[in-house]
Amino acid sequence: MFLSDNIKVFSGSSNLELTARICKYLGVPIGGAKVERFPDGEKIIKCEDDVRGKDCFVVQSGCEPVDENIVELLIFLDCLKRASATRVTAVIPYFGYARQDRKDEGRVPITAKLMSNLIATAGADRVLAMDLHAAQLQGFFDIPVDHLFAEPVLTKHFRDKKIDNLTIVSPDVGNIKRAARYVRSLNGDLAIIHKRRVSANLVEACEMIGSVEGRNVIMCDDIISTAGTIATAAKIVKERGAKKVFVGATHGIFCGPAIERINEAPIDEIVVTDTVPLDEKAGKIKNLKVLTVCEILGEAIKRIHRNESISAMFHN
Ligand code: R5P
Repeated sequence: MFLSDNIKVFSGSSNLELTARICKYLGVPIGGAKVERFPDGEKIIKCEDDVRGKDCFVVQSGCEPVDENIVELLIFLDCLKRASATRVTAVIPYFGYARQDRKDEGRVPITAKLMSNLIATAGADRVLAMDLHAAQLQGFFDIPVDHLFAEPVLTKHFRDKKIDNLTIVSPDVGNIKRAARYVRSLNGDLAIIHKRRVSANLVEACEMIGSVEGRNVIMCDDIISTAGTIATAAKIVKERGAKKVFVGATHGIFCGPAIERINEAPIDEIVVTDTVPLDEKAGKIKNLKVLTVCEILGEAIKRIHRNESISAMFHN
């Protein structure tokens, strides 16, 4: 693929492997930058490549260590802006703090909005994100946001398995639109679980709309965090007569009791993407498959650089 010399793709520390895959797709080297610490723990980033007049992209996920990765992204953006990059795009495969997007009780922050403000203030001219927890988070930014979906990668995986008698299950009301897109793409029926979140790591599945009796099920979610949502949903569909249970999710955070919950749940296969690095966690999760979204992110970077349509990537 021919890209002008004018593009530079840098990597934060959160997900070097994904940036390397994106750069391989684009046929460009990862931009040279040194991330170091002062003795007191403060970080400093020194950009080793000349970026004056360049179209720069920084890839950084808001995964663990969340605050550290976010601050590093902010420093990176500031560094590139002050080094006279023409345009800086924050490429955020997983946007941390996205679930804190409203005041659902008194005296709490809206941290997703705070993060959006910080990213723009630090110097981002654009944001490229994937499967934001809620699409309306785009409106938290006063700069352009391109919102990508991992679905083409996940649904292709399931289509290739040729699963018959298929029902797509939304494990909560928030995932209905995602499930409806899976239905369109994979041709199944739709069922919806009504979930109640008791606390940050405890959920109760209350009711199910639709039937899964004798059906193979794919459950789709944006994030698997403590795995309360999918483990509870898997038990419900099994109790209601589902045969095989597959799970597809974009961001595999797998924190707290997640690994134990998944390994105990009646799940035949769980598929996530590489928006968040899995390292040693991956080996501990039964029936886990990790797919890469490097081509989607790489293609979007190429199109932004060339001023081409991103939405055209998702039209069948
Ligand atoms: C919730 O609204 C999201 O779509 C996910 O279902 C949720 O964040 C998953 O969290 P956990 O794995 O902790 O249940």
